[in-house]
Amino acid sequence: MASVQALKKIWMDGKLVDWDDAKIHVLTHGLHYACAVFEGIRCNETVARSAIFRLEEHIDRFLNSAKIYRMNLGYSKRELVDACIETVRANRVTSCYLRPIAFTSYGAMGLNPLKNKISVAIPLWEWGPYLGEEALSKGVRCMVSSWARIDSRSLPPQAKCSANYANSALAKMEAISAGYDEAIMLNAIGLVAEGPGENIFRVKDGILSTPPASSGILRGITRDTIIQFSRDLKITFYRNDFTREELFTSDELFFSGTAVGVNPIREVDGRQIGDGGYPLAKKLQRLYDGAIHGRLKRYSGWLTKV
Ligand SMILES: Cc1ncc(COP(=O)(O)O)c(C=O)c1O
Repeated sequence: MASVQALKKIWMDGKLVDWDDAKIHVLTHGLHYACAVFEGIRCNETVARSAIFRLEEHIDRFLNSAKIYRMNLGYSKRELVDACIETVRANRVTSCYLRPIAFTSYGAMGLNPLKNKISVAIPLWEWGPYLGEEALSKGVRCMVSSWARIDSRSLPPQAKCSANYANSALAKMEAISAGYDEAIMLNAIGLVAEGPGENIFRVKDGILSTPPASSGILRGITRDTIIQFSRDLKITFYRNDFTREELFTSDELFFSGTAVGVNPIREVDGRQIGDGGYPLAKKLQRLYDGAIHGRLKRYSGWLTKV
């Protein structure tokens, strides 16, 4: 994956600073103890101006992640929404990936994070589809990870905390080293949870399903978008658990996420999924693409124009 290309400005603790000045100390508390919560949000070109997709829902999740970790960000939802818009404008980009992040700053060391000031930053960069453009049409090859997904007895999966991504990175590295594109993670009781940075959907006999929040997943905003589409398209949909073997016998599987979009899965542990076509995944992918690029009036309420 190519390195991030520098842009112009980053929002840091209430003001825009030059890209190269957005620096932190090596003793930043959050770097050592993973006390950091973040978001991943996309701004896309639309027929009129660029627009950020479901910005308010992302900021709600950001604030909820912070609340779970007893972090007081010191900014209201409105201020954070405005800061995201301001940062996109300042960088004069038409499409980008925004990464609001809040972390315990430089100050005291040791495991008690409550002593340290919380810093909030909003960097952004230009980023293509996470698993690549080709993966969106051809689908990805996955392995079921030997690493179990974190569960809420140890780390709250519904808080988008940096700590969770050490678990994700172990699964991702394992999959890449074994020659696959991506991992699928089971939870502590062996049921399917999600990908390292994506939710997962299954299609079987015309029924769409995805694991419930209680399976130990991040409640994806793209997942919620797909659920909304399934209602609008009158597709039978359930939030239900499925097993590893039900992955293999699916008619279709796909990932959903802000970074990845709607990405079909073509193989799991050497078994081809379905007949190699992805009719429903592709239909939902087209709808998602239409919604994020402002081509579908019905979903224009999800767009914040920049
Ligand atoms: C672990 C995990 N699951 C699911 C998702 C998908 O969430 P969203 O659709 O809100 O991007 C992400 C991405 O943020 C993630 O990191």
